Amino acid sequence: MLAMENYRLFLALLVFAFAVGFVSVVFVVRWVLHFREGLGWDGGAAEFNWHPLLVVIGFIFLQGIAIVVYRLPWTWKCSKLMMKFIHAGLNVLAFILAAISLVAVFDFHNTQNIPNMYSLHSWVGLTAVILYSLQIVLGIGIYLLPISPVHLRAVFMPIHVYSGLFIFTSVIAAALMGITEKLIFGLKDPKYKDSPPEATFVNVLGLLISVFGGLILWIATRPSWKRPNEQLLRSQLNSADTAMSERPDLEPNSDTRGKNGKM
Ligand code: HEM
Repeated sequence: MLAMENYRLFLALLVFAFAVGFVSVVFVVRWVLHFREGLGWDGGAAEFNWHPLLVVIGFIFLQGIAIVVYRLPWTWKCSKLMMKFIHAGLNVLAFILAAISLVAVFDFHNTQNIPNMYSLHSWVGLTAVILYSLQIVLGIGIYLLPISPVHLRAVFMPIHVYSGLFIFTSVIAAALMGITEKLIFGLKDPKYKDSPPEATFVNVLGLLISVFGGLILWIATRPSWKRPNEQLLRSQLNSADTAMSERPDLEPNSDTRGKNGKM
């Protein structure tokens, strides 16, 4: 594997982020199945429940993984094109799940004669979905279609990175508002302020989502954990090959990192 600065810290944070994200998904599943009405597509509460479930799985967990996927050092051997497909694919999947979750909540509101788009949660949430669709279309157009000029790719990159992190942060904010609203609307007797078990459980879900967001943002903003540029990668791979051919005692596919994690 190719060298990465502070590899152990990276790995620890990544595993922690993945675990927290996974536990958030388990929590939202338990919330809708155990504390709420389960899942269904009948215009009632069970249809609404798809909304938080798909948002946490797709828009939060999958989007978070998609953001850090280039940074996994064991993928640095893979071609950049393949990594772009994985990054774009995860984001498209997250978008599809977010879109289905919106259909569920709009359908629920229309069936129950509840007004649409009145809350700050819905404004922030829908804006994030619209920006996300734009981010995906521009990202695919500029970085996956072979016709776009190289200088455009370079000029647009800081905007792509910034807007990706901005959208992800907005999604976390929208989720926290949505969770709070749902607890206030949904808990009648006892009320939210009486701290029934569901309230405590879902407050913990909100904390887990925030911690997941914080870890992903930290991992994604460390310059030293960036995937090295392609030229540097090729020269590192070449020198690894040379070192190996000069060491007959090493198996051709053995790990060439030393004790300190360097090549
Ligand atoms: C983070 C991504 C999310 C986005 C993009 C999002 C988006 C939206 C949108 C656009 C609406 C308006 C639907 C309408 O007016 O008919 C809505 C409603 C709602 N959402 Fe979310 N949502 C998200 C997460 C959540 C989560 C995690 C919950 C937790 C249960 C939640 C709870 C609600 C509730 C209770 C409503 C109905 C009340 C209202 O319109 O504010 N949302 N959401």
